[in-house]
Amino acid sequence: MIADRKDDHVRHAVNHQRQATGVSDFDSVTFVHHALAGIDAEDVSLAVEVAGKQWNTPLFVNAMTGGSIKTGEINRQLAIAAHETGIPLASGSMSAYFRDPSVAGTYRVLRQENPHGFVMANVNANATLDQVRSAIDLLEADALQIHLNAVQEVVMPEGDRSFGAWPRQIERIVADTAVPVFVKEVGFGLSRQTVTWLREAGVSVADVGGRGGTNFARIENDRRVGGDFGFIESWGQSTPNCLLDCADIPGIGIAASGGIRSPLDIARALALGADATGVAGAFLETLVSHDTAALIDKIGTWLDQLRTILTVLGARTPADLVGADLLITGDVANFCRLRGID
Ligand code: FNR
Repeated sequence: MIADRKDDHVRHAVNHQRQATGVSDFDSVTFVHHALAGIDAEDVSLAVEVAGKQWNTPLFVNAMTGGSIKTGEINRQLAIAAHETGIPLASGSMSAYFRDPSVAGTYRVLRQENPHGFVMANVNANATLDQVRSAIDLLEADALQIHLNAVQEVVMPEGDRSFGAWPRQIERIVADTAVPVFVKEVGFGLSRQTVTWLREAGVSVADVGGRGGTNFARIENDRRVGGDFGFIESWGQSTPNCLLDCADIPGIGIAASGGIRSPLDIARALALGADATGVAGAFLETLVSHDTAALIDKIGTWLDQLRTILTVLGARTPADLVGADLLITGDVANFCRLRGID
């Protein structure tokens, strides 16, 4: 049952957030402090341009859920939080809706509670053109997200095993879709080779979706009965590594997600070249452990604190962070050395 799987994902993702050690590759990225660099806080704007659209903030709620009664309620609360704070948000995969249109309301709520917000509809890379159109119509979506999750699928006993048609289908979807198309990983990272291919296919934004946060190999391993796939939990590239690998590729927007824990991680991702940053697990944990008000409060606090970081660094906008004076150490420095990145 897809509905049970959706509920399982939420439960395991929240448990993993609660058990998180706090250690991350983002800690290998440090801003050099320049004591005279600061500017006036009132001169800072958090506005960014993403896929040709103006966003008030470089922060969005990334794809999570829908398809069951419980996850429909989570979507309602996420949409209220997005509406109150003015940040964009994405639906979870709409495969459950394609199989059973009676769950439409569990996704549609994202638009009902957030009538003027930037909403993205999320589909898998095998979705048909009719399915893509109906997903966009249902949410009156401003953009489409296509997720790439081969590692997750192979750990799921009931998962997909057919990934060969993805590139051709992405090209067809991009050619047929009027709104901007984002392509995202779900926590194993996009490589330079993949992002370059996505740019050639006409994709507007690549969301690197790197390792370091929600780990779908671990979630599916926890759900699996028999057959330990534990060896695959460390698969992929971390989010800072992906950004160092890809963010200078011209002609495609770059979003960063996967393991963003704080406003400082947002600033680090922006300085490494992301145009915007997505958060899933950390926001879900706040919502499930507390309530919508707590999530609204958290997002507001993060945005205020991000503004203060930009003030100290002398960045008038998030885009000004690109080229900031950074120290790269530890595993991230090793990755750069092995990949030949200066
Ligand atoms: C996700 N994610 C996800 N991504 C996607 O493209 N389609 C989906 O349906 C889902 N479902 C989903 C459920 C739950 C419960 C979580 C926590 C996450 C992945 C998500 O968008 C993101 O790429 C990863 O979670 C990494 O970001 P965080 O969680 O480390 O901030």
